[in-house]
Amino acid sequence: MSERSLIDRIAVVTGGESGIGAGCVAGLAAAGADVAVIYHQDKDAGEASAGAVKLLGRKAVAVQADVGSEADVEAAFDRIADAIGIPDILVNSAGLNMSGVPVAKMSLEQWERIVRTDLTGSFLTSRRFVRELEPTGRPGTIVNITSIHASVMRPGGADYDAAKGGQWNLTRTMALETAKLGITVNAIAPGMILTPMNQKALDDPEYRRSLEQNIPLGRAGTPDEIAGLAVFLASPAGAYITGSTITIDGGLSLVLGQGA
Ligand SMILES: NC(=O)c1ccc[n+]([C@@H]2O[C@H](COP(=O)([O-])OP(=O)(O)OC[C@H]3O[C@@H](n4cnc5c(N)ncnc54)[C@H](O)[C@@H]3O)[C@@H](O)[C@H]2O)c1
Repeated sequence: MSERSLIDRIAVVTGGESGIGAGCVAGLAAAGADVAVIYHQDKDAGEASAGAVKLLGRKAVAVQADVGSEADVEAAFDRIADAIGIPDILVNSAGLNMSGVPVAKMSLEQWERIVRTDLTGSFLTSRRFVRELEPTGRPGTIVNITSIHASVMRPGGADYDAAKGGQWNLTRTMALETAKLGITVNAIAPGMILTPMNQKALDDPEYRRSLEQNIPLGRAGTPDEIAGLAVFLASPAGAYITGSTITIDGGLSLVLGQGA
């Protein structure tokens, strides 16, 4: 068995129908895991992502949930356990981007919308994941997709940056709490990745180049590149890593503080 083999492992990926989440679904399945896709609104995309897993000969199920809803998350994990078993890998990729609205102009509703999805969602799924996995005695892994904006702020990004900072500290707290159970908890902090969250860059090459020129490696990243890291963290090769955030941004966050 290769160091990265995930044979006999059962993964659940939130936001698994799009972007980084869909990349993680494909990567985990390619490494041998059975995979549950939690999708939000696009059932066809959820089914397509699960279908790609089945094409690789692994078990899969697509389940709808709003990750910010306790009832939805509980029902989704019930269905997943029935369909493919109790998961031992959780990737929290579901998320919404910053509003661009400064705090002084932001409604409470807007604030809560991002925090509920990007932070409370990871709390709800991680809580259920650990509650369900602990009695089995199996080890496991949680991978939270945070952002370089958990530690690099932007005006208008208070909703997102605060939620991602909270998700980072949820990661570190849970790593302490679950270490004795053999459950590792880590974060991946991407920079600019080509997904629907960056739709304008996907549609407009000139706009994309204008952003990419700020990235030391000279290009945006891809969902596959994030998936490779998630697979590594879930694999035996990543077993001694917990409570860490691994930045994957082509050097973008190093540019901070340069030039003046
Ligand atoms: N793309 C980037 O440049 C980038 C950079 C840093 C971090 N991230 C993070 O990566 C994660 C994935 O984003 P992406 O780039 O793949 O974008 P994306 O828009 O393709 O994916 C976001 C996913 O979250 C899901 N989602 C949104 N609200 C939800 C809810 N209430 N319940 C369940 N699912 C919900 C969407 O359905 C979608 O599948 C996000 O957490 C995002 O913050 C992305």
